[in-house]
Formats: sequence, C-alpha cells, structure tokens
Amino acid sequence: MDTLYTTRNLQAVARLWDIARRWRDRDLSLKLMFTVTSLYQRVTRLSEFRFWGGSGNIANYNVPMIFNEQNVFKVFHRKARTIRDYLDTWSQPPDMPFCISTQSATDLRQIPDASIDHIFTDPPFGSNINYSEMNYLWEAWLGIFTDTREEAIVNRMQGKTVEDYRGLITNALREMHRVLKPGRWLTLVFHNSSSEIWAAIQAALRASGFELAKIQTLDKRHGTFKQFVSENAVGYDLILHCTKRFHDTAPIHDSKKESTALSAIRLFLASTLKQDPDGFVVRYLHVGRQDELDTRKLYSLWLKKQMEADTIIDLDYHIFRQMAQQAIELDLPNYRALTTE
Ligand SMILES: C[S@@+](CC[C@H](N)C(=O)[O-])C[C@H]1O[C@@H](n2cnc3c(N)ncnc32)[C@H](O)[C@@H]1O
Repeated sequence: MDTLYTTRNLQAVARLWDIARRWRDRDLSLKLMFTVTSLYQRVTRLSEFRFWGGSGNIANYNVPMIFNEQNVFKVFHRKARTIRDYLDTWSQPPDMPFCISTQSATDLRQIPDASIDHIFTDPPFGSNINYSEMNYLWEAWLGIFTDTREEAIVNRMQGKTVEDYRGLITNALREMHRVLKPGRWLTLVFHNSSSEIWAAIQAALRASGFELAKIQTLDKRHGTFKQFVSENAVGYDLILHCTKRFHDTAPIHDSKKESTALSAIRLFLASTLKQDPDGFVVRYLHVGRQDELDTRKLYSLWLKKQMEADTIIDLDYHIFRQMAQQAIELDLPNYRALTTE
C-alpha cells in the first residue's frame, strides 16, 4: 500500500494520522481521523492529472502515466473546512434512538421480523466495483478489514460468479423481506450494462418474495468520467419500488417475449422518439464530438419497460446500443440527420 504514495506524501499522511489518533479529546480525534480518511486517493499516485482540471476517485488501482501529486496539508485543510462547515450547519441527530451498523445484509438477525417501515438500498453492482479491494487503501490506515465472505460481488479473485452474486443478493433481499412490515416498500437503486446481472437482480427479487410495483429512471445529471470515455458504461440508474405483499402469493410468472430483439427495439424506438424527439440526443457543447443518440438513457427506459412487463432482461447494453443504431438506420434515418446536423 505504501507504494501508492510518494515518500513525502506517505510521511505527511502518516504524521497527520498519528496526530489525529493521539488527540486527547476523543470526539475531536474521531473527527480528525474521519478527515484524514477523506483524503483518500487525492494524495496518492492514483490521482490522475487532468488537462481540463478537477479530479475524481476511480474504482481501480491504475497508476496514471501523469499523476497529480497534491500537497497533503492543503488537501487536509480543504477537506477539514468542508467537514467543519457541514458539522456546523448539521441539524442535530433526531431525538429518537437510532442505530447505525456495519454488517452484511445477508444476516440481519438482530432486527425482529416485520419491524421496519421502509428500506432504501443501493446494492453492489455485480462486477463493476470491487468494493473491499478499493477500500483496502483506507482500511489499511484504520487497521480494520472487510470480511469478504458475504460480499455480494462477481469477482475472480474471490472465486465469485454471477450465480454466487445472485445467491448473496437473494439472501440479503430475503432478510430485508423478513424485517419489513407487510405492505411497506423497499426502494432499490441499481444499474448495470450486463443483462446477466440484471437477470440476477430480477431472480433475487422474485425469490425473496418482493413484488415490483413501479420503476423510475434517475438522471443523475452529472455524468461520470467513465461514462464520457467508455461507450459501454451506463448513465441512468433505475429506482425499483418493491412491496412486501400482505399475504404471500405464487411467484410472478416468467413471460419471455417471442418477438426478436431487433423488432422489439424498433417498435420501442419508434414510439419513444416520437413522443420526445429531442429528449434522446447527447449534445457535446465543449468538445469537438458529434451529437449522438442517447442510447444510455434509452437503455434505462428499455430496462424499465422490460421489468414493468416482467420480461427477462436478455440484452446487454452494448448489444442494445448496436441494435438501436441499426433501428435508427432502418426506420428513422431523418433522426440520424437531426442528431448529426
Ligand atoms: C453501490 S454501493 C453503495 C454505495 C452507497 N450508496 C454510497 O453512496 O456510498 C454497494 C455497497 O454494498 C456493499 N456490500 C457488498 N456486499 C454487501 C453485503 N453482503 N451486505 C451489505 N453491504 C454489502 C459494498 O461494500 C458497497 O459499499
């Protein structure tokens, strides 16, 4: 881990960490330690130099060719100020007792059956992010490491396949189903470009007894760097609103559509683009790149419709994108002209 830092930055972070840890006032000590952990990748060799400025956290250990060595003390000051401003304006915690716990959602045995009013969950995205591996950087400072046995991801090093992922997510959703009061809601935020992962989520929701009642797309507005540079990254999360039925009924039946994928996409695009012809064009204002069909937004809408119709999702984003482009050539050549004007 030390090789991810330049020698001087490692020494500077170690010094700050030591001061924070030893601070007499325990409350302040914890706040200082919290601030040091917030420096995260900014002060390592992972911090990429970007010609257009700014920086961001990345979910891998790629050491960029040109890195941006930052002054640890300046970054610490900046972060400390932000955290202090937040704490100054933070409304105090609620009067009611509350509990924050760090544990695997696959085993919530301390929570009684049917005792929770609402669950909001943002589960791991298949193989997109290796959370525990990425946490290693700060866990090494904290001296506490994730127990990865129940980590719900697809990961070669951990020997976890999509099947394992589906099993772990199912166990977690079963526990959520158990603790939720009947008739209440589970809100699940998710996105992935792989149909296999989507199918795993669908199967897990079914197996755990939840009923998918409504889906919304969430436009996060601020695109990630990865979305900008990678054609197969997806940009719109789906919000799945699921209920716990009052009485368990038979599981929802699989109804795989007969129509071929391309003709289904042609129909989907024809109706969607007719309704909002200008809503699915990505315009690049500041870079010399042609306007494009917003296939990410369309894919989210497509997933939403598939899930609402309880159809098994069997198209990865990259195939959807190719087919959407094909469909445009076939049915809506004028739309193409419009987007490349
Ligand atoms: C999509 S992220 C959620 C990020 C979070 N909403 C945030 O803003 O920081 C998924 C999270 O699920 C955690 N996770 C993985 N397996 C888990 C499990 N079995 N139980 C609980 N959490 C798990 C990962 O460590 C990761 O932090």
